[in-house]
Amino acid sequence: MKFGTKAIHAGVSPDSATGAIMTPIYQTSTYVQDGIGNHKGYAYSRSQNPTRHALEKNLAALENGKHGACFGSGMAAIDCVLKMLNPGDEVISTNDLYGGTYRIFKTIFEKYGIKFHFVGMQNADNIEAYVNENTKLIWVETPTNPMMNIIDIAATAKISKKYGIMLAVDNTFATPYLQNPLDMGADIIMHSVTKYLGGHSDVVMGALICNDDTIANEMYRIQNSSGAVTAPMDSFLVLRGIKTLHLRMQRHCENGKVIANFLAAHPKVDKVYWPGFASHPNHEVAKRQMSGFGGMISFTLIGDKMKDAHTVLNKSKLFALAESLGGVESLIGHPATMTHAAIPKADRQAIGVVDSLIRLSVGVEDAEDLIEDLENALS
Ligand SMILES: Cc1ncc(COP(=O)(O)O)c(C=O)c1O
Repeated sequence: MKFGTKAIHAGVSPDSATGAIMTPIYQTSTYVQDGIGNHKGYAYSRSQNPTRHALEKNLAALENGKHGACFGSGMAAIDCVLKMLNPGDEVISTNDLYGGTYRIFKTIFEKYGIKFHFVGMQNADNIEAYVNENTKLIWVETPTNPMMNIIDIAATAKISKKYGIMLAVDNTFATPYLQNPLDMGADIIMHSVTKYLGGHSDVVMGALICNDDTIANEMYRIQNSSGAVTAPMDSFLVLRGIKTLHLRMQRHCENGKVIANFLAAHPKVDKVYWPGFASHPNHEVAKRQMSGFGGMISFTLIGDKMKDAHTVLNKSKLFALAESLGGVESLIGHPATMTHAAIPKADRQAIGVVDSLIRLSVGVEDAEDLIEDLENALS
């Protein structure tokens, strides 16, 4: 099946009891057994639930993977990957990444004896210098949040395979519509389903997708043991959201291009970070591994003053001031004080998260209205 058909049909089938075309919300914690251990595949909803199961199959299909698992948030999905490691193991991670990922690495897992190296991966050759016999995981986010750096997944996979290291890719920004990391050699894909997959800013959820059966067993063991699962109602909402993922992503990409070009030509704007520009340092890699450039854009203001950034954030109206991204409505945020406040100032400045950096999640409204809103906010 092609992507749009999979988005609508993969993993779901008419309800066996009633023929309902939409997967029902199986709002139940447990399942009656005909005899001890004799059940219909579902014993307890932490372990598995039919609504969640349909979503897990759907997500696996969208990423061309065999196994999917859903969690109570993107962070819970990341937590699961890290719990596959042991004390003494080392992780090489992108140095420009979601602040919450940095926080869970540094403040939760470091104290259990896992060591993290944060590395600029725009050139994949930088990674190999950090590999040693303890390296067990390479963590890649691409495009990165918020600097829109692009990391070459295939080149990174070559290194991970050479040394037998697991490669995990946070595919939240690109979505399976634009990029399929398993096809490029990644071992695990992580999603903050909260974002584009849910798409309607009404659910917090995470997911992992993989092909390897051994990794899958670990993933399901940890999902069930730690219990950070997602609810049937939320699974239903995401199944519904995904049915229009391809349509929404098309529009996010179209609007993203219009807004990126508008910002690049604006006299108050200094730098614009968007992988669709030919001038983006890894534009060629983006063209190779993504089928479009998405609707996430960051930009800085001439003079780089925090107060000027705050003025823009306070004056924009259609671009609502909020955390998060990937919903149908446009959002505006200030990474230094919002999503990336967990990263020490010197570290964030070093990767480009300066005081005037503003991040946009361009929604699917009419582009003319979005431009007018930004024009007003910048004037
Ligand atoms: C790239 C990325 N990864 C992971 C997360 C964490 O996901 P969640 O907020 O669903 O826990 C986020 C949240 O903003 C994100 O942007």
